[in-house]
Amino acid sequence: MASYQMEWSQSRNLSVRSPEALCSVAEIDEFDFSKALVERPRSLNIERQRSADERSMSELSVGFSPRPSSTKNDNSSRAGDTFDSAFSPLQKSGIPRSLILDPHPIINEGWEALRRSLVYFRGQPVGTIAALDNSDEKLNYDQVFVRDFVPSALAFLMHGEPDIVKNFILKTLRLQSWEKKIDRFQLAEGVMPASFKVFHDPVRNHETLIADFGESAIGRVAPVDSGFWWIILLRAYTKATGDSSLAERPECQKGMRLILSLCLSEGFDTFPTLLCADGCCMIDRRMGVYGYPIEIQALFFMALRCALQLLKQDPEGKEFMERIVKRLHALSYHLRSYFWLDLKQLNDVYRFKTEEYSHTAVNKFNVIPDSLPDWVFDFMPHHGGYFIGNVSPARMDFRWFCLGNCIAILSCLATPEQSVAIMELIESRWQELVGEMPVKVCYPAIESHEWRIITGCDPKNTRWSYHNGGSWPVLLWLLAAASIKTGRPQIARHALEIAETRLLKDNWPEYYDGTQGRYIGKQARKFQTWSIAGYLVARMMLDDPSHLGIVALEEDKHLKPLLKRSNSWNL
Ligand code: GLC
Repeated sequence: MASYQMEWSQSRNLSVRSPEALCSVAEIDEFDFSKALVERPRSLNIERQRSADERSMSELSVGFSPRPSSTKNDNSSRAGDTFDSAFSPLQKSGIPRSLILDPHPIINEGWEALRRSLVYFRGQPVGTIAALDNSDEKLNYDQVFVRDFVPSALAFLMHGEPDIVKNFILKTLRLQSWEKKIDRFQLAEGVMPASFKVFHDPVRNHETLIADFGESAIGRVAPVDSGFWWIILLRAYTKATGDSSLAERPECQKGMRLILSLCLSEGFDTFPTLLCADGCCMIDRRMGVYGYPIEIQALFFMALRCALQLLKQDPEGKEFMERIVKRLHALSYHLRSYFWLDLKQLNDVYRFKTEEYSHTAVNKFNVIPDSLPDWVFDFMPHHGGYFIGNVSPARMDFRWFCLGNCIAILSCLATPEQSVAIMELIESRWQELVGEMPVKVCYPAIESHEWRIITGCDPKNTRWSYHNGGSWPVLLWLLAAASIKTGRPQIARHALEIAETRLLKDNWPEYYDGTQGRYIGKQARKFQTWSIAGYLVARMMLDDPSHLGIVALEEDKHLKPLLKRSNSWNL
């Protein structure tokens, strides 16, 4: 495995905003989320907490979040600390009295556990370890995963501690420039690592970083999501700090362009979606997510939109911006039209004719109605819908995936109507998707013959376990963000209440098993960092909805007309 000596660059003061820099990087929009909170569509199945919610949302809308204590390395986030808003334009005031007087113990414990997971490189924090579980074989859980660090980064940003995020962004950028090989095959320049770790050489008393681009990963899976998360994080950092000088650095602009070249390149594709191998994202094992998985498509969409905000208007930047705009139009049309499923669309697919030739075909991908799984007819509520897992020739994967649908809401890939429908479905299918631990990574599980064929008999992915219908606390932050953005904070509140009864007591498991998420996952790590950070981020957003701007994008008016052309959700 490659190893490389990294330079240790002193981090700069982030609170200073350069006016020059502000002129050349596209200004990152503020979104008035308070509006979304006022116009809350109501839904059916969840226990109503209307008056309490409305009271607390208006109390909370002044903006607060637990602030870090004055010493950076102080591991405790104590109640009663004094707070300032040095870093984030979003952080306007202090924490609410209720939190100062009576913070939920899980919050302090969570912060302590999150700080214990920090990974240092030559004296600087550069990330968080995947899990601090020493109980059994570690595999690669002792590494800093790019996707796992995202909720940690958001927690630190929302807490007013952006330095670690900046360090992470710069260090992973250096890793991107490594020459990467799997066996004798050289990977593309823009590929971002899945993970890295710090190697300490006791003889030379020297630290180096060791990265994994898939060449060590189980199954040699490609981390397609890493580059997208990196761009999304760069935008989150810029938004939270108001410091656009990081994104403007030539090396960050180049890093973005390299990632974009990879996913915007022309090839044999007939669809604007991104073709991937199995296991290329959070679900990093064979699980039938090859082809055009919704998780990657939604992250792709969001990363393109973030890049549009971050790229400089220089000749190179402009060229990419043009390509991005074109792709976004095609991508949103394709995903909103062909990945979207609601009752009407389901009925249409059920009645599809097959073997249609030419551009007049209705059943464009020649999906055979007999391939519709039985469960989907019961699962689909009257009001509600979702982006299905995958669409390709003669194939619709009808499974519901949490991450892709939440990112679709946060990025505005989902139209406002679709966003509401996604939340309607979650409320209608609460037992199945949230049950006793939020949230199912996908629904439903695959079993028996299907499991054998699709997973290759994977014993870690048996039905209702791990990636195969397991419940992942990390997804809480996405559910919370999506529910706040759609004006339904009661969903986030309800989910958090459920999680709070167990997460700390169970030592922050990686995932839960069972149809209701009742059991701690068979091979779940404890003290899984993104379970901790996912909870904290969800809690902070619920307590101060203005944090949402760090992870959510405003609707792009230019993408709107296209959606009018497509079908059923507009009815
Ligand atoms: C597992 C998960 C993956 C995660 C990694 C580290 O492999 O499937 O999504 O990044 O663990 O936590």
